[in-house]
Amino acid sequence: MADLSGLKERVREIRNEILSSSGALESSRAAYEKRKEFLDSKKGKIGQLMKEMREVPAEQRAEYGQMVNELKQWAAQRFEEIDRSMKEKELAIRCRAEAIDVTEPAVKALPGRLHPVTQVREELIDVFASMGFEVYEGREIETEYYNFTALNTPQDHPARDMQDTFYLSPEFLLRTQTSAGQIHVMETKRPPIKILSPGRVFRSDDDATHSPMFHQMEGLVVDRHITLGDLKGMLDTFVKKMYGEDAVTRLRPSYFPFTEPSVEVDVSCFACGGKGCALCKGTGWIEVLGAGIVNRRVLENCGIDPEEYSGLAFGIGLERIAMLKYGIGNIKLLFESDLQVLNQIGDQE
Ligand code: PHE
Repeated sequence: MADLSGLKERVREIRNEILSSSGALESSRAAYEKRKEFLDSKKGKIGQLMKEMREVPAEQRAEYGQMVNELKQWAAQRFEEIDRSMKEKELAIRCRAEAIDVTEPAVKALPGRLHPVTQVREELIDVFASMGFEVYEGREIETEYYNFTALNTPQDHPARDMQDTFYLSPEFLLRTQTSAGQIHVMETKRPPIKILSPGRVFRSDDDATHSPMFHQMEGLVVDRHITLGDLKGMLDTFVKKMYGEDAVTRLRPSYFPFTEPSVEVDVSCFACGGKGCALCKGTGWIEVLGAGIVNRRVLENCGIDPEEYSGLAFGIGLERIAMLKYGIGNIKLLFESDLQVLNQIGDQE
């Protein structure tokens, strides 16, 4: 038979154990585990005490039973209080952590925007589309026939030296000019032709104003009675839309194998209005593109009768337009993808 005083001592110990350990609890989860340690119906320490009942002499069982029951009730209540205060504490912590400070300045959203060269390209397409041009996308890998020969630049023609070419093989190369697309268009389409062909071109050339890869926008119009006057009219419209109504164009004689006559097109300096400044190097004019009347040999190469049709063509360097427009001194800035730089150039919304 168990000694009741020993069991009473055990009851007291368990009570003390609950008192001393419950103060250190730090979470409702820990409180739950602790509760189980004492009150679990099977393994709990208080349940174990109940099992001792068998060992207690019959006349003392009532007293013992009451004592354990009281302990059980007390412990249940105590753990309930602990659970409640833990949950309150945890809720307060969560509320604090998840609180939204409505007075805090909003995080600025940084929407992406179009690259300056893309902006210029879209702007040019808009301008020429309004004059009835259609966009034709050429190919970046060309044969030397399309890039040179068909454009009236046969092998050994000195004009081939005007552009340092990346050859992929004796026949294939990275196109040095979007003019190659003129031939594809004229081979497949009959006049009237009015296309605009933007794209990347490649030349072995690398300094502050030249990059081995850059973008051009080719224009080609073939129809009956196309003259230099049409070219000037179209370019005037383009220049006024791009640089303002006061801008004027000037054609200077030049040379390209695939146009005759050929011209270099200048626009009156949009920084100084033509008085002369650093941008136009004191001349009042800025060169913006090369153009001309399509050489009759090029028409012939494409099976178009030069007696019946004539054409005009122009080639615009997009980086050059972007650099002039946004005041960029080094072409590399356009290709380094440095957001600090790109965010400063281009049209601000
Ligand atoms: N393809 C010439 C260049 O890259 C530009 C040009 C295009 C000139 C069309 C005349 C006509 O320099």
